Amino acid sequence: MGDTAKIGIGGKDVELPVLKGTAGPDVVDIRKLYAEADVFTYDPGFTSTASCESKITFIDGDKGVLLHRGYPIDQLAEKSSFLEVCYLLLHGELPTAAEYTEFEHNITYHTMLHEQFDRFFMGFRRDAHPMAIMVGAVGALSAFYHDSTNIDDPEHRMIATHRMIAKMPTIAARAFKYSRGQPFVYPRNDLSYAENFLRMCFSVPAEDWKPNPVLTRAMDRIFILHADHEQNASTSTVRLAGSSGANPFACIAAGIACLWGPSHGGANEEALNMLKEIGTVDRIPEYVQGVKDRRYRLMGFGHRVYKNYDPRAKVMQTTCHEVLAEVGNADDPLLKVAMELEKIALNDPYFIERKLYPNVDFYSGITLRALGFPPEMFTVLFALARTVGWIAQWKEMIEDPSQKIGRPRQLYTGAPQRDYVSVDKRG
Ligand code: CMC
Repeated sequence: MGDTAKIGIGGKDVELPVLKGTAGPDVVDIRKLYAEADVFTYDPGFTSTASCESKITFIDGDKGVLLHRGYPIDQLAEKSSFLEVCYLLLHGELPTAAEYTEFEHNITYHTMLHEQFDRFFMGFRRDAHPMAIMVGAVGALSAFYHDSTNIDDPEHRMIATHRMIAKMPTIAARAFKYSRGQPFVYPRNDLSYAENFLRMCFSVPAEDWKPNPVLTRAMDRIFILHADHEQNASTSTVRLAGSSGANPFACIAAGIACLWGPSHGGANEEALNMLKEIGTVDRIPEYVQGVKDRRYRLMGFGHRVYKNYDPRAKVMQTTCHEVLAEVGNADDPLLKVAMELEKIALNDPYFIERKLYPNVDFYSGITLRALGFPPEMFTVLFALARTVGWIAQWKEMIEDPSQKIGRPRQLYTGAPQRDYVSVDKRG
């Protein structure tokens, strides 16, 4: 018999099982609480609630640790590749050489889009935000690939998974090209995942495009850093959408919509805008004062789970220096502002007391800008990389025999029952 927790309520003691994971806090299993005590628990924002059991990703926010299937993110960023991390997240183990070859082949040969899909892009206004295009285009995948939407068939689930990981760069690059008024570039099977994506974004028919190994490696590493992050808002959205039996393309579109917000994936765009607004190092104290006066937040700082340096931010900072050096912009004034801002914030009691540290978005904007992306593409790149995490979590949920439709309850504080009043009697 494991540990139990006891709560006394309404003159009655209710005993609840305490479940243990392999790491992280124990959880009190409250599933029987309503039946036995006629009460709900109340936790808006899920600050103390484990919404599911998962074996994919673990975060120790106090120590600043992020593990995918047990492997630390810094080791994966240094030694692995994005496609290998995709395999790891989906299958639970690093692939053998033969498994990797087969997986890479499956992804590579699903990168093209149905030709009619290209016409779908034409319906958007030419100045549409690429995230708006992503929400619509990814949702539309279910209209083009009906043959992989039976969620009860493991083969359909796997094909939908491969399709989404493979087609996301093609869709993201088209969203970018569309906003630039440039022709779409088709994927090439002889290029790596990151190389192919960069070529689809930056090549034009008028001239040759040459891959740059430093920038390709940086792109791949940025994808690794964003691949999964446990039960965050967009992942929980994907799980909740999927819990009703919705098809995986629709669920990922829901995740993209949630990611767009500035408190989540939209923060990388906002962080760069903030650095531009500050502009020069001498304006930092005035800006930090505005944060303390609660006029705005320091974007790219703070995290619901990390109360220490976000381990992804450290890798991102190194990648940022590498990319800026490669593109000949090591003296980027925005990098100077970012580094000084980080130093000041990390030594200021306001930030120390609240345990606010840089998160992954603090340096990603400067890096992505140096790679050639405009700010409105930053969250798109996050969505591209996070797709594997969303789909791995979606698959885990569908394959969990205890899975039920997600249906939170509420603390109702509205009007009690009352009788309808006809319009002539309303005051
Ligand atoms: N700048 C200034 N103060 C902050 C910040 C910030 N970025 N983040 C939190 N605080 C303060 C907040 O005002 C509060 O202070 P007090 O206790 O005096 O009221 C305290 O810290 C706790 O804040 P909270 O809002 O309760 O924390 P949360 O866990 O709900 O918020 C967050 C997490 C990420 C939404 C928040 O830190 C934030 O808005 N950060 C800026 C946006 C950002 O960079 N988001 C990217 C997150 S990482 C990428 C991703 O996973 O999407």
